[in-house]
Amino acid sequence: MLVVTQMMRKKPPRNEAGPEMPFVCLTDFQARARERLSKLTWDYIEGGAGEGFTQEDNITAFKKIRLRPRYLKDVSEVDTRTTIQGEEISAPICISPTGFHCIAWPDGEMSTARAAQAAGICYVTSTYASCTLEDIVSTAPGGLRWFQLYVQRDRQLNRQLIQRVESLGFKALVITVDVPISGNRWHDVRNQLDLKTNLLLKDLRSPKERNSMPSLQMSRIDPSICWDDLSWLQSITQLPIILKGILTKEDAELAVKHNVQGIIVSNHGGRQLDEVPASIDALTEVVAAVKGKIEVYMDGGIRTGNDVLKALALGAKCIFLGRPILWGLACKGERGVEEVLNILKNEFHTSMTLTGCRSVAEINRDLIQISRL
Ligand SMILES: Cc1cc2nc3c(=O)[nH]c(=O)nc-3n(C[C@H](O)[C@H](O)[C@H](O)COP(=O)(O)O)c2cc1C
Repeated sequence: MLVVTQMMRKKPPRNEAGPEMPFVCLTDFQARARERLSKLTWDYIEGGAGEGFTQEDNITAFKKIRLRPRYLKDVSEVDTRTTIQGEEISAPICISPTGFHCIAWPDGEMSTARAAQAAGICYVTSTYASCTLEDIVSTAPGGLRWFQLYVQRDRQLNRQLIQRVESLGFKALVITVDVPISGNRWHDVRNQLDLKTNLLLKDLRSPKERNSMPSLQMSRIDPSICWDDLSWLQSITQLPIILKGILTKEDAELAVKHNVQGIIVSNHGGRQLDEVPASIDALTEVVAAVKGKIEVYMDGGIRTGNDVLKALALGAKCIFLGRPILWGLACKGERGVEEVLNILKNEFHTSMTLTGCRSVAEINRDLIQISRL
């Protein structure tokens, strides 16, 4: 079922001066998305928690890292392909889970899924997707997809959701650990954002389950979830489990001890606890703690191909994009997401070529230096 939330968007501005300027980099999409979305939607997408220190740090921390290019290495052929959890992707650039894509574009996640499939990368679908999982899969059946779960208080609902995503061909379960409660997002409070009416927070049950019991009791995230509950999740799924939101070596060691298959180093784009480290700064400590036993990924603040290269040099197997995907959607729907992904992939290809890396395997710590600026 498609939920259209045109009220959340402004009309596209008419360009009287002629054809629109091309979108050259990811921040071009950011500027244009801001013009196209209502203030309420823009603030929801863009906003961070508290004073926004971590959100800002996610971007600026990348700029304290400098590159150490190597030359004369025959870079006539450069291959950006890699794997995550054994599946090939065209580049180490995938899509983080973000909720409610219909606030950015009418057919929301369906556009995102098609663009991800065309780009040959992984799309992590949020628990709070505004399209049904069935619609998302049927519009892009060949795409690599993971499902992000906010563990719900209702255990039965978790079980049903997991069975549903398994049967729909999702290849991993991403458990977000940094949202026992929502962070303090001042913009959303000022704007009196209501998840249910403004973002159309929906019933998480499958269409069949909904028909048999229509009264909707909105389920909520379970703040009591802890390490011991992982074994319960592992007992009800065969899918690899990835923990999203780990920032410390202590939690990284526990993740390995509890036999999860991967970690996404993330601070939720600075939307949860303000004044935690930038993701790129936390990455080093997490990578050192897992000692190569499981794959480590990261998200937060990736805006250029150089950022991708830096994250890989510090040990990430792959990066994920949050807001830039929503900017692409808001500007041009599926085509916008495709462009965002292509621009970043091309930039990353250039970054590899100009630093002398012919394959992703050649990217290592010697390529960067952390400046004291
Ligand atoms: C509008 C918005 C909605 C989000 N929704 C979710 C979500 O449903 N589940 C989740 O695990 N993370 C969610 N996130 C966090 C992203 O997955 C990701 O960690 C973050 O956006 C990465 O930072 P970036 O936006 O700088 O790329 C959301 C982020 C934004 C901006």
